[in-house]
Amino acid sequence: MSESLRRLVLVVGARPNFIKAAPILDALREYPDINVTLVHTGQHYDAQLSDVFFEELHLRTPDIHLQVGSGSHAVQTGRVMERFEEYLQEERSAGRPVDRVVVLGDVNSTLACTLVASKMQIPVAHVEAGLRSFDRSMPEEINRIVTDSLADLLLCSEPAGVENLRREGRTGREIHLVGNVMIDTLLENVEKAQNRSILEELNLLPGGYGVVTLHRPANVDDPNQLRRLVRVLVEVSRQIPLVFAVHPRTARALEEAKLQCSSADSQILMLGPQGYLDFLSLTSQAKLVMTDSGGLQEETTAIGIPCLTLRPNTERPITIYEGTSTLVGSDVDQLRDGVEAILDGDYPNGRCPELWDGRAGQRIARILADALALRPAITTPSFQRAA
Ligand code: UD1
Ligand code: UDP
Repeated sequence: MSESLRRLVLVVGARPNFIKAAPILDALREYPDINVTLVHTGQHYDAQLSDVFFEELHLRTPDIHLQVGSGSHAVQTGRVMERFEEYLQEERSAGRPVDRVVVLGDVNSTLACTLVASKMQIPVAHVEAGLRSFDRSMPEEINRIVTDSLADLLLCSEPAGVENLRREGRTGREIHLVGNVMIDTLLENVEKAQNRSILEELNLLPGGYGVVTLHRPANVDDPNQLRRLVRVLVEVSRQIPLVFAVHPRTARALEEAKLQCSSADSQILMLGPQGYLDFLSLTSQAKLVMTDSGGLQEETTAIGIPCLTLRPNTERPITIYEGTSTLVGSDVDQLRDGVEAILDGDYPNGRCPELWDGRAGQRIARILADALALRPAITTPSFQRAA
């Protein structure tokens, strides 16, 4: 390997990571002196949760696959740590030390790889830094806090991330407001997605249905909460047909609680997890979205689709104060009011936040190159940084 090459490892593990990685990998191609290794931990492994995103987003095949699979938090995190450490040690022993690790979002793979790299004194950049729900019952909140406390490059998607990190004592030099990589991918693909035939196949009309996803443990792992939510969805589906793209965690929970969403008096179309393009086709042409997904709160904001967020809190406040999301928890009355407002055309339009402009990946690549003291092969557009 040439002396001037710097080694960067980008870690992905779960569905939202793949979507966030695509624009960063694209933008890093402009820096020929950065040698990028893509590591897939294997946290998500079903074709519809992993392979389909690699195909549709033209992601390169991972260079390293850690094959960790599912398990409890400790088991899954521990397995990633063991295998990632072994990989980094091997590289170091072979004289190919890694100069920087980049982690995305808030999943267990994010936390595990941050811990390993930090203890090996390899600096970590965190994409989507600073988001806080202030709810430590969420496993993701613990992953966010620990990851941010160890990362030295904190790349934020919205101003709240910057504020939270400053409040936690981080300095302006470590924090960069870069925009939202998930929205880079959305903007790149939305037209292609809308040209797909999924609506015709499902007999849906643009603006004539709602989309549902649920997978947060607080919503699906407690049978009583899940029963309450299913009851609410059935009620909403009497007003507008719903398409429910069911995550495997939720499929298992519905089965264990013996809950049926489809019935004679409901219009809920149950689907498995969808590929990126079909799902974007569905969400971008929906009348409304009901979800507990972090990414979907942001995507609906970016494209102006009303989103009733089935959570009591959010780590993405900009989707509420600027965007199209309303927190409804699992309150039937709030949800009913929200749906009525949307169907009556009486719901705020919101606006797309600043820097959610399709260029976050480029900003991140440039910051990574600066940190590795490298210059681009061609000039990237200038960008705004947090002071
Ligand atoms: C994980 C993330 C969550 C993220 C979500 C994205 C953590 C703590 N949680 O939640 O933040 O929003 O991914 O979708 O990292 N399973 C399969 N096939 C797969 C993967 C999982 O069937 O390919 C099933 C297994 O039964 C597994 C369960 O789903 O036990 C949960 O998977 P896991 O990765 O632990 O958490 P998610 O709920 O997917
Ligand atoms: N998504 C998808 N197919 C689905 C459900 C979601 O492609 O069936 C996409 C969604 O558009 C968003 C991302 O997956 O880009 C969000 O991931 P998820 O909800 O699993 O995780 P979170 O964002 O909550 O961590």
